[in-house]
Amino acid sequence: MIKHSIGIFISGRGSNLNSIIKACKKDDFPGEIKIVFSNNENATGLKIAKENNLKVITLDYNNFKNTEEYEERIIELLKPYNLQLICLAGYMKILSKKIIDNFPNKILNIHPSLLPKYKGLNTHRRVLENNETKTGCTVHYVNQEMDGGKIILQKEVNINSEDTERSIAMKVLREEHIIYPKAIKLVLTK
Ligand code: GAR
Repeated sequence: MIKHSIGIFISGRGSNLNSIIKACKKDDFPGEIKIVFSNNENATGLKIAKENNLKVITLDYNNFKNTEEYEERIIELLKPYNLQLICLAGYMKILSKKIIDNFPNKILNIHPSLLPKYKGLNTHRRVLENNETKTGCTVHYVNQEMDGGKIILQKEVNINSEDTERSIAMKVLREEHIIYPKAIKLVLTK
């Protein structure tokens, strides 16, 4: 099986990164992680990356004049890895046209709702406030509309009357860990 080169972008905990690392270890998985990038040098997910001997790059946005210069530098730093796919996994910074155009149809994101519903932040809180009976997660291509690119895979999760923001987050996250590797496989074998 050809292993395509993947870059993972994280900002925090890195549990989705962990699920992708596990998937990449399987012989029949068509990708391998070449680089983990973070805008946050304190992201706990970076520990997971290092424990798995993955290369890590961190870049603090505050050291740059604007998004354009920040992303130009990211693109430059990623060039040697010749990435076929970039997976945003809890990457909490919005990408601009610069980087999206540089990797056309090669950037995926996971979002904790059933898009197109509940784009943006605090999805589980808003789902509860609206008395929804189901929510879920979505893997989609990244375009310039936030959480608006073409959907690749979704998984529904039921909500019951005892659920809290926290319990919903846990149930949804469990499904995220399953659908993200599946979506990556789909995209890389297309
Ligand atoms: C995940 O629930 C992911 O869907 C969400 O952040 C969490 C990251 O967890 N992403 C977004 O909200 C993107 N807008 P992780 O760091 O443990 O993978």
